[in-house]
Amino acid sequence: MNILLLGSGGRESTFAWKIAQSKKCTQLFIAPGNAGTGAYGKNVAIKPTDFEAVGRFAIDNNISMVVVGPEEPLVKGIHDYFLEQEELAHIPVIGPQKQGAQLEGSKDFSKQFMQRHCIPTAASKTFTLATLEEGLQYLETQTLPIVLKADGLAAGKGVLICETLESAKAELKAMLQDAKFGEASSTVVVEQFLRGIELSVFVLTDGKHYKILPSAKDYKRIGEGDTGLNTGGMGSISPVPFADKTFMGKVEQRIVIPTINGLKQDNIPYKGFIFIGLMNVNGEPYVIEYNVRMGDPETQSVLSRIETDLVDLLEAVGNQTLDKVELKISPKTAATIVIVAGGYPGEYLKGKVISGIENVRESRVFHAGTELDGGVIKSSGGRVLAVTALRDNLFDAVQQATADAGRIYFDAFYFRKDIGFDLL
Ligand code: AMP
Ligand code: GLY
Repeated sequence: MNILLLGSGGRESTFAWKIAQSKKCTQLFIAPGNAGTGAYGKNVAIKPTDFEAVGRFAIDNNISMVVVGPEEPLVKGIHDYFLEQEELAHIPVIGPQKQGAQLEGSKDFSKQFMQRHCIPTAASKTFTLATLEEGLQYLETQTLPIVLKADGLAAGKGVLICETLESAKAELKAMLQDAKFGEASSTVVVEQFLRGIELSVFVLTDGKHYKILPSAKDYKRIGEGDTGLNTGGMGSISPVPFADKTFMGKVEQRIVIPTINGLKQDNIPYKGFIFIGLMNVNGEPYVIEYNVRMGDPETQSVLSRIETDLVDLLEAVGNQTLDKVELKISPKTAATIVIVAGGYPGEYLKGKVISGIENVRESRVFHAGTELDGGVIKSSGGRVLAVTALRDNLFDAVQQATADAGRIYFDAFYFRKDIGFDLL
């Protein structure tokens, strides 16, 4: 079958690598892809949010499945678009329709969903400009720190953790009155702060059945020892040592099953990945957020451990026969180190020539923000490359990935050398 993958980051490079290995994949297309995805298929210069162009390409190239990497096209309704067009409706799209994508597209929607289905999460209340005064009074009753979340998509920047009441009030006003995050912050969720250790759990569902994929931990801060600014993710490991049988049993019973059943009860069709951001609070799992896609750079570690043919799994999502496919997971540990551009996550340098990728032999290098310029690989984004090693244990995996990240060079590059060390 011909498969079309949408996206251009490290997550999509990993999907491309995995899909290209499938015995069922005849031709893979990646729109738009990056300098690395061309090794697994054919890059096509189409924006994932240009639904018409995606649809036309799918018809012209006899596409039998569309796999959506990022959230934006899902939240904007690419799956609905395919269902609405007669000539596209038969093509399975992996990723939820607009309604299901609200789990990520609206924090208020996802909080209401969790409350309705008794899924453990931080206590919260939602405010708009019309209820700003009430919101300011509510802040007075909260213990510090206070979490403020812009309701809509804000490129990962819409969550503020306020250490003082004054800053919480100022930020609530900035979000509601001054549109700090544009339309995304016209509604704000005020949330209780959860103290614990975070992890990511991934679920693949066809709307009837589900498979729990390997757990992973993402390292979000730019600096070693989890310091400095938040980023899209500087590294990941899988499995997470503390996500043992007991903990994962609680996650399945209290969170995964109620989530899948909740979607059914609410008549929300869902075919795709659910990324559950969790806080482990003294051994008890709480949902911090849902995403309607895989994580980046968690995907690099998670898919590296999945031994089942990924297209078999995705095809079963389309046909709602996920219960018929066996999910095989490697017992090994994967570690991923992300190499970023100088300046990231602030204003960062671009167009730097990358060398040394060919010196990496024991890890896999997934391209993220890269482009080909006359045959030369250059950096084009903040997160440039991800280096993933799969080894018998966590120590060996992080050692290998870190050593291999060090074999790559470009001007002003940076990567964290402590990924996974907190868990050793
Ligand atoms: P989100 O955009 O929802 O992933 O939030 C970004 C980050 O903010 C999360 O990864 C957490 O580290 C942190 N965060 C969000 N909500 C809470 C909360 N209720 N308590 C503590 N930390 C939180
Ligand atoms: N690594 C976090 C995310 O993909 O949102």
